[in-house]
Amino acid sequence: MLEKINDIIEEIRGLDAAGQAQVEELRIKYLSKKGLIPSLMGELRNVAADKKREMGQKLNELKTLATEKINELRDKTASTETTDVDIDLTRTATPLHFGTRHPLSLVKDEILNIFAGMGFTIAEGPEIEDDWHVFSSLNFPPDHPARDMQDTFFISREPSDVLIRTHTSSVQTRVMEKTQPPIRIVCPGRVYRNEAISARAHCFFHQVEGLYIDRNVSFADLKQVLLYFAQQMFGPETKIRLRPSYFPFTEPSAEMDISCNICGGEGCAFCKGTGWVEILGCGMVDPNVLKACGIDPEVYTGYAFGMGVERITNLKYRVKDLRLFSENDIRFLHEFDNARSR
Ligand code: DAH
Repeated sequence: MLEKINDIIEEIRGLDAAGQAQVEELRIKYLSKKGLIPSLMGELRNVAADKKREMGQKLNELKTLATEKINELRDKTASTETTDVDIDLTRTATPLHFGTRHPLSLVKDEILNIFAGMGFTIAEGPEIEDDWHVFSSLNFPPDHPARDMQDTFFISREPSDVLIRTHTSSVQTRVMEKTQPPIRIVCPGRVYRNEAISARAHCFFHQVEGLYIDRNVSFADLKQVLLYFAQQMFGPETKIRLRPSYFPFTEPSAEMDISCNICGGEGCAFCKGTGWVEILGCGMVDPNVLKACGIDPEVYTGYAFGMGVERITNLKYRVKDLRLFSENDIRFLHEFDNARSR
């Protein structure tokens, strides 16, 4: 028996455990009611009377050693892990923070989905562009102020102009150069202008451009498509109005207003008492643009429109300061947790 006790003492000295569950297994093995040490203690009554004392002491020594060792292992493993035993199932769960869609992405997708429902496909083009795609092909006269350094970020000017696009109308040219009509596209993208950053202007923003070219496309088609878009985006009671305007690449050109979606057209501070807010530019594609892109203006006509995603987002979600869109303030972004694009 003495030999057995000494073996167990050796065994216990060398014990180690990887986790609380293992410590518990060891406790059961050595110290529980039916464990090794209590059963050895039970055997004490069979020991010869003259050896009982010595054996009893030895067994107590073993028990103390085992208890200490197990406590030590329990402390050690507790600091490195939380076991099932420690989980408090009544505690409130730690909230998981999911990422959210950026408001500009939500609104851009919503715009694209409305036009996709009318058969428009999505086309994209490069942000780094040349003079031809951004200006010349789109009928900008050589002295047009948009070509000025004050509006456009040029990357280089010699031998040819390399610039970052000031509008997504450049994608029109890229698609028309490669495709014959019918063409029916919407072109989302980021654009850049050399503006001082303020609540109302930024040096980059986002646009969605639209283009439809086919035989017999008329201004009435344009108006109907834009009315449908406005009512899908801002509600079925929304009205539109088209005001004559000027863009080099469209003739005739117009700017479109919608009835103010805050006061319903009554007149408020947001629409400056007019009942209308401007949302986009549009017009019939100038025959010079069709010609420049290899499309016969005698056979085909088309319309185009362009809108700012920030502007639409501002109208939908009342974001007053443009800078919020690019500052990535988590408090602002989380306001859109529950917003969904359709
Ligand atoms: N490119 C114009 C801008 O950046 C927006 C625009 C106006 C696009 C009229 C068009 C259009 O296609 O027909 O201000």
